[in-house]
Amino acid sequence: MTERNGPSYPELDGKVAVITGAARGMGARFAEGLAVRGVAVIAGDINAEAMEATAAAIESSTGGRVIGCRLDVTQPEDHTRLAERAVEQFGRLDYWVNNAGVFPQAPILDITPDQLHATFSVNVDGVLFGAQAAARSIGTGGGSVVNMASLAAFRVRPARGAYGTSKAAVTHLTKFLARELGSTGIRFNAIAPGFVETEMTRWLHDDPAALTAALDTVPLGRMGTTDDILGALLFLLSDSSSYITGTTLTVDGGSSTHS
Ligand SMILES: NC(=O)c1ccc[n+]([C@@H]2O[C@H](COP(=O)([O-])OP(=O)(O)OC[C@H]3O[C@@H](n4cnc5c(N)ncnc54)[C@H](O)[C@@H]3O)[C@@H](O)[C@H]2O)c1
Repeated sequence: MTERNGPSYPELDGKVAVITGAARGMGARFAEGLAVRGVAVIAGDINAEAMEATAAAIESSTGGRVIGCRLDVTQPEDHTRLAERAVEQFGRLDYWVNNAGVFPQAPILDITPDQLHATFSVNVDGVLFGAQAAARSIGTGGGSVVNMASLAAFRVRPARGAYGTSKAAVTHLTKFLARELGSTGIRFNAIAPGFVETEMTRWLHDDPAALTAALDTVPLGRMGTTDDILGALLFLLSDSSSYITGTTLTVDGGSSTHS
């Protein structure tokens, strides 16, 4: 999606967003896509050095505002700090994107307690703590929170037991957030991407057989790009989705139709 040809969503201009896991990959593209539309972004990542570099690069390429911060999504107080920073610096908070995630792969009998705990801490606890901070800080004018799930929440592929189960929890948690917090006017939705070109899927390119097998499951015949997912995010943040909450939008080139 070029910024000129993509949907512009003028209502985003002047809003303020927090994005987690934004040093690279989808989170970095989300920060860029929002900054260019006039959204001030507080961008957090556990890799503080990379986050600062990414934020500076986006500010310089877009002319927008992106403040890079260290954030460990497993720590509730880190989320609170970013929410406070947004309100102190920009006077409001409208959007929150729970994007940070980890992708362990292990056969089901090899998953260790430490791996399981680490996976759920980032992928599930991190989403809940982010949503709590967002709900406590977004004003009465409403807002939108988007959680990153995965096609792995619905499709069972070997060695994804911990990851897929954690992402299934994200889709269900999103429904609880929407139900319990609907009266705040904040909408809570999730995106379930299929295979997307980022560092997280670099292993596919190192294994041609795995890449071919993966692409065989995608009716559109290609991996997704970060722009494909940005398009879904903009829709879920914008007024175009004003009556949508508690849902998970699958963005997978049709992979979920594959048996
Ligand atoms: N790439 C895909 O094919 C794909 C498919 C489905 C879902 N997803 C999900 O989309 C999201 C983004 O994926 P990506 O491909 O851009 O991944 P990525 O690995 O490129 O980026 C993830 C970012 O999260 C950060 N992070 C990890 N642990 C963190 C923590 N504890 N606190 C703060 N930041 C932390 C990393 O430093 C990194 O910058 C993830 O939730 C992922 O599970 C990705």
